[in-house]
Amino acid sequence: MNYVKPTIPAIDGCQDSVLLNDWHVVGFSEDVMPGALVLVTLLERDLVAWRDANGALHVWEDLCIHRGARLSKGSIQNDRVICPYHGWNYDGAGQCVLIPAAPTEPPMKKAKALVHHVQERYGFIWVCIGVPARGVPAFPEWDDQSYKKVSCGPYKFRSGYRAVENFIDPSHFPFVHAGVNGVLDSPDPITAYEVQESEDGLASTEVRVTQPYGDPREVPVIAFYAYKCLRPLVAYFKKRVIIADPARQSEGSENDRFCTFLTAQLVDEVTSIVRISCAMNFSPSPSDADVRRRQDLVYAQDSAIVDTQRPERIPVDLRQELHHRSDLMGQKYRSWLKTQGVTYGTH
Ligand code: FES
Ligand SMILES: [Fe+2]
Repeated sequence: MNYVKPTIPAIDGCQDSVLLNDWHVVGFSEDVMPGALVLVTLLERDLVAWRDANGALHVWEDLCIHRGARLSKGSIQNDRVICPYHGWNYDGAGQCVLIPAAPTEPPMKKAKALVHHVQERYGFIWVCIGVPARGVPAFPEWDDQSYKKVSCGPYKFRSGYRAVENFIDPSHFPFVHAGVNGVLDSPDPITAYEVQESEDGLASTEVRVTQPYGDPREVPVIAFYAYKCLRPLVAYFKKRVIIADPARQSEGSENDRFCTFLTAQLVDEVTSIVRISCAMNFSPSPSDADVRRRQDLVYAQDSAIVDTQRPERIPVDLRQELHHRSDLMGQKYRSWLKTQGVTYGTH
């Protein structure tokens, strides 16, 4: 039999090994329920996600090895994916176990779906379409029971990198999030901060801002953001919050923190899906709905501006666009993307 195994990278689309061999979030765990074949697109590749009766998650290339039909158009029966075209049956390992046109004949060994690496962490589905170079990045509060966690999104953005850069940029707060994360008439001066690079990515020292509605308790706060870029499309901040009004400071504690773990799924070079998980440890704890309402507002305000940025593919050559001292984190992010060999979706 003539059979050519599809190779990674695809002829079109992403060729960057740093991205192909990394983990990418393609959904929330609850987006894929038993019995459903779910189409997701990552780096221009169509994938099919499904769960077997035991809850185990599978993500394959959305392609039948026989004649290239889309498996996502098929069905699931007895923990097998049935191709919609000639009914080949694939088991959970992606092996074809029945060719209905020759039911008594064992299918060829090479009759296999193209199976990808998958894992579930922090409420997200993570996929690697190459060979994982390392694990998923750390979200330390996830396993800390003193933190309430709330998943928010998905939020559509054009450039995933522009969405990440926006996330690590505190100087837009007074303008894009006036009355929420900053004060329009009195923008915070951004005092000097530092950014360190390590094998875990980039990390900033704290950046101080005043926020009229800085957390879901709806009290004005002074916030100190410590940012991290963990992967090209995964970022994080830990925000220390102090209630601004001295008369109300007893409502808070010096240990109050609000953290956000942000992921961007690159559908293609200029289409992305942002999903976040928020972790907070203060009381009274806001409801899940309160947290989501606020995040929905903030990310809608962000995408309304970020999606207007040109060029859509983020420039990683620092000679393009102008950088100010207050943009240090974004500036480092761009150079870091470049040194890691990210070219897909950049300029
Ligand atoms: S294309 Fe899938 S069974 Fe023929
Ligand atoms: Fe923002």
